[in-house]
Amino acid sequence: MSSLEGKRLAVLGVGKIGEAILRGLFTAGKVKKDQVSGSVASESSRDRAAKKLGIKVGLSNQEAAQGCDILLLSVKPQVMPSLLTDLKSLVSDETLIISVVASMTTEKIQSALGQNCPVLRVMPNTPCLVGEGMSVICAGTYANQGHIELAQELFGSCGKTAVLKESLMDAVTGLSGSGPAYIYLVIESLAEAGVKVGIPRDVSTLLSAQTVLGASSMVLESKAHPALLKDAVTTPAGCTVDGLLELEEGKLRVTLIKAVVKAAERAAQLSP
Ligand SMILES: NC(=O)c1ccc[n+]([C@@H]2O[C@H](COP(=O)([O-])OP(=O)(O)OC[C@H]3O[C@@H](n4cnc5c(N)ncnc54)[C@H](OP(=O)(O)O)[C@@H]3O)[C@@H](O)[C@H]2O)c1
Repeated sequence: MSSLEGKRLAVLGVGKIGEAILRGLFTAGKVKKDQVSGSVASESSRDRAAKKLGIKVGLSNQEAAQGCDILLLSVKPQVMPSLLTDLKSLVSDETLIISVVASMTTEKIQSALGQNCPVLRVMPNTPCLVGEGMSVICAGTYANQGHIELAQELFGSCGKTAVLKESLMDAVTGLSGSGPAYIYLVIESLAEAGVKVGIPRDVSTLLSAQTVLGASSMVLESKAHPALLKDAVTTPAGCTVDGLLELEEGKLRVTLIKAVVKAAERAAQLSP
């Protein structure tokens, strides 16, 4: 039996990532729509989210969180202080708090709530929307193995999960949290390149995106080092090596490494 069965879930801040997680959960059948309530700040977002997701969405965090077993916090970091103030009188040691908010530590959340609540910090990414998300989970002081397993079930329904120590969460934010944006840039650039060499744009985009998907699947399924898989494409004196040399000259490797480092550094500064 699912440990989510019969649990009431409130998503506080049903924006891009909140919606992606909910869609993944609904598609996987892990929770029913009538188990979920949500909150947003504006009437336009309320109407949009309620219509798109078919759940009850309101403008009051307290109303949405009332009587819920799990509170998923998915607002921007700067909104967290006021959200936690809204929730303080509602939560108990039995309420599981799951925050997907970048930068804010479990310790800060615990102390703002002033309770011994189990708090988990999770860094998902937007491909949760299509069941291919990557979510990294870490636990606060009062969260136990059962809470981690519940989060693995919840986020596992919209992709893969990993459990890491909290000191790595900003690094995770810079890699897999922001990562889809880097890869969209790669896909866009490869598609543009296809157009440059004469391939129709729609076909070129398909070639580019499916190549990224296929290469990712090869890494995940074969568990081989990416360098070995690259060698298998690179025939001596063939064309791939010429393409690789251009990428090395353009410093693709070091540029990607620097992008993750910068984003991770910035992630550490977001929390108010
Ligand atoms: N996007 C990602 O890829 C991603 C990945 C991992 C983690 N995250 C984290 O997820 C959080 C949300 O990011 P997002 O990209 O989903 O942002 P977003 O699309 O702007 O969503 C934020 C949501 O919070 C709502 N909100 C604002 N003030 C509120 C309040 N006082 N009470 C309740 N709801 C309120 C907003 O409503 P209105 O629309 O009415 O303003 C909006 O629906 C951030 O902390 C981010 O670090 C994002």
